[in-house]
Amino acid sequence: MSFLHSQQLNIMTNSTAKALIWTGKSLDVLDQRVLPEITRYDNYNDANGVAEAIKSMRVRGAPAIGIAAAYGVVLSVQAHFSNSTNWKEAVLADIETLAQSRPTAVNLFWALDKMKAVLTQADDTIVDAITKCAVQIHADDLAANKKMGDLGAELLVGAKGVLTHCNTGSLATGGYGTALGVIRSAVAQNPTLNVFAGETRPWLQGARLTVWELSQDGIPATLIADSAAAWLMKSGKIDWIIVGADRIAANGDTANKIGTYSLATLAKQHGVKFMVVAPTSTIDWCLENGDGIEIECREARELLPACYDVPNSLVSAWNPVFDVTPATLIDAIVTEKGVVLNPSQQSTGIASLKND
Ligand code: MRU
Repeated sequence: MSFLHSQQLNIMTNSTAKALIWTGKSLDVLDQRVLPEITRYDNYNDANGVAEAIKSMRVRGAPAIGIAAAYGVVLSVQAHFSNSTNWKEAVLADIETLAQSRPTAVNLFWALDKMKAVLTQADDTIVDAITKCAVQIHADDLAANKKMGDLGAELLVGAKGVLTHCNTGSLATGGYGTALGVIRSAVAQNPTLNVFAGETRPWLQGARLTVWELSQDGIPATLIADSAAAWLMKSGKIDWIIVGADRIAANGDTANKIGTYSLATLAKQHGVKFMVVAPTSTIDWCLENGDGIEIECREARELLPACYDVPNSLVSAWNPVFDVTPATLIDAIVTEKGVVLNPSQQSTGIASLKND
């Protein structure tokens, strides 16, 4: 069911838009596909609906997907726990549906694993326990973002300009943002920092979401066509490129929105530094390197002009929506547990970030 949420006015005037609002009995999902023109929340009261919201990109961004899925599990437990003796099987089936919604962002599987662990201790308090876990995942992500904001901003002292890609702000996370959180914190310390955002074809997360979020915060931003990035670097206007991540392998190779690898390659050529900002829930310690990361390939029609989307058309489209940037092209990985500089040159890689 779609409706204009009563909190719409708050969202428009608050500095930080909320992608997800947990009501206790349902999940309100801001439909990011229609921003910035329309601020509309869709209300979901079952796990299948939440899986569909993720699949259809109403909610997107690695941490936000994980948080949404966690609330989807809560809805599943609420629906099945008191209604069926086989409630756990029904919940596990819903978890599988949620896991199938998108393949690349590891935060989805990380959050579902955490929720599954709570299920194994199930007793009469399961509804409370599972709810607590989802709310904690959400709160921890927000806290991690604030921490990363501080740590990343320290690297930007003296910088005059930055370029970011895709959307990594409040809309993509539990709030504040990863790469965009660093930019928020850096601008708070240095209001003259110039912020550039790539439009991020084909879904235009940069044009539709990032510059809108920044403008809501009163932060001036300059949009560029993705293909203008090399020329921007050549102009000397930026010192850093700052991006988020959907999955980081144990050696620091980083999957992020398609185009990130091109930016990192161009950055090397132009002496521009390259920063990845992501919570440790984005690190997939099971993967030795980026070769094992599944890259989501979406439908050709997301790229193709409609006239070619017909049977027997000679024109097709290849639409991978993420790519993998090798750790050798990354100058800093910023997480809530600390910063790893030059991850490919450290003998231990990013292992210092593994658990406490
Ligand atoms: O396809 P999307 O919009 O879900 O892709 C999101 C990105 O690639 C983000 O840059 C990444 O998830 C980091 S979000 C903090």
